[in-house]
Amino acid sequence: MTADRFPERSAFPPGFLFGAATSAYQIEGAVEQDGRGPSWWDRFAHTPGCIRDGSSGDQACEHYQRWREDLDLMHSLNLQAYRFSVAWPRVLPDGRGRLNPAGLDFYERLVDGLLERGIVPYATLYHWDLPLTLADAGGWQSRDTSSAFADYAVQVMRRLGDRVARWSTLNEPRCSAYVGHLEGRHAPGLRDLRATLSAAHHLLLGHGLAMQAMRAESPSAQLGIVLDVKPYTAADEGAVHQQAAWRADGVFNRWFLDPLFRAEYPTDVLAAYAAHMPDVLATDLATIAQPLDHLGLNYYTRGHVLHDPSRPFPQAAEQRVNAAHHSTMEWEDWQEGLYRMLTRIHREYAPKALFVAENGAAEPDRVDADGRVRDPDRQRYLQGHLRACAKALAEGVPLDAYLVWSLMDNFEWGRGYTQRFGLVHVDYASQRRTPKESALAYAAFIRS
Ligand code: FCB
Repeated sequence: MTADRFPERSAFPPGFLFGAATSAYQIEGAVEQDGRGPSWWDRFAHTPGCIRDGSSGDQACEHYQRWREDLDLMHSLNLQAYRFSVAWPRVLPDGRGRLNPAGLDFYERLVDGLLERGIVPYATLYHWDLPLTLADAGGWQSRDTSSAFADYAVQVMRRLGDRVARWSTLNEPRCSAYVGHLEGRHAPGLRDLRATLSAAHHLLLGHGLAMQAMRAESPSAQLGIVLDVKPYTAADEGAVHQQAAWRADGVFNRWFLDPLFRAEYPTDVLAAYAAHMPDVLATDLATIAQPLDHLGLNYYTRGHVLHDPSRPFPQAAEQRVNAAHHSTMEWEDWQEGLYRMLTRIHREYAPKALFVAENGAAEPDRVDADGRVRDPDRQRYLQGHLRACAKALAEGVPLDAYLVWSLMDNFEWGRGYTQRFGLVHVDYASQRRTPKESALAYAAFIRS
């Protein structure tokens, strides 16, 4: 998979959707407008030292004001699908109880605007912006948050369920749990394994409870979850390194896939984590393993590892593959990995349908004097990953959509505005949007 070109358009079946993704806190801004309550990301971003460039999502892309212009932009780029997230604190400013109708009004306008332009909405209910009241009551370390999430999901479904067919409960429970509670780089900024495993379990439980409640509310909706997946390869043929890669896979991938599809935690990882596990009630795993209509995958890169006994479980140290292209995130462009994850998940877990919910690269983009944004590395990245999708489709993987991360440059969490993932360049001072060359090429490919 090396040639720099898009795959044949005919490699994708009729009905396959090409689009882009964003999330609420990363683009909306307007954090105090129309009754939105605070989330733990507002607090985290305003805590000195937490965000690399000292920024926050206070303004971001001002999408809350500029959504019409952004919808027109999507339309002009021939996008067929758009994945956005609903901000829980806009809908329920205190996390539960009091409903803020203005919050739902915003998403209703957005969805209607998408449908008017022929763009299929993909709604995600939780892309990390937990209402602060719930955060202060224990956040995802509290079982109560799981049931609050299910109640919130139903409120959104009640308003938008007649127009949005495709739903995801959580975005990346792994990232929420590990990056927020073990690595300390995301809200709530903890470094504690027990908190991490508790959060991971209650996120999954919240997903299961929300699935049950949403199913009851709207039996025909297509429901699922979005997971970040990462293939692990060993940087040395030795058995100890292969085993380290398998353990790392257990933590990153199987810890979430196995409970969702098999109603069990993987025993090898569970053995290592036993002393740190939260209370898991007898019915929890059955609740978590609700049948899914589709599974979204976020794929960016691989982990190429060596066994390192000086590290805590999974005792794997990532190695840089110097010959490969790396984005400004320092993530290796490894297109083969998307093919491997799609075929493996199809083989081992057999979800009814799969979609790529996020895939993309941050590059050092700038607007040239002639007004163009030249981003050949992103274009190569997208072409290669689309070819990986085509290859998986040819082998029978039930893949039905591919969404680029991201529609436009935005607030990249702990890295602030230093990373440009967009198909569309955003000049934050003027809020001017400029489609990059990759966006124009993607638009032409979609149309072809
Ligand atoms: C994913 C997140 C998304 C974005 C990309 C780069 O983990 O879901 O919001 O930050 O990474």
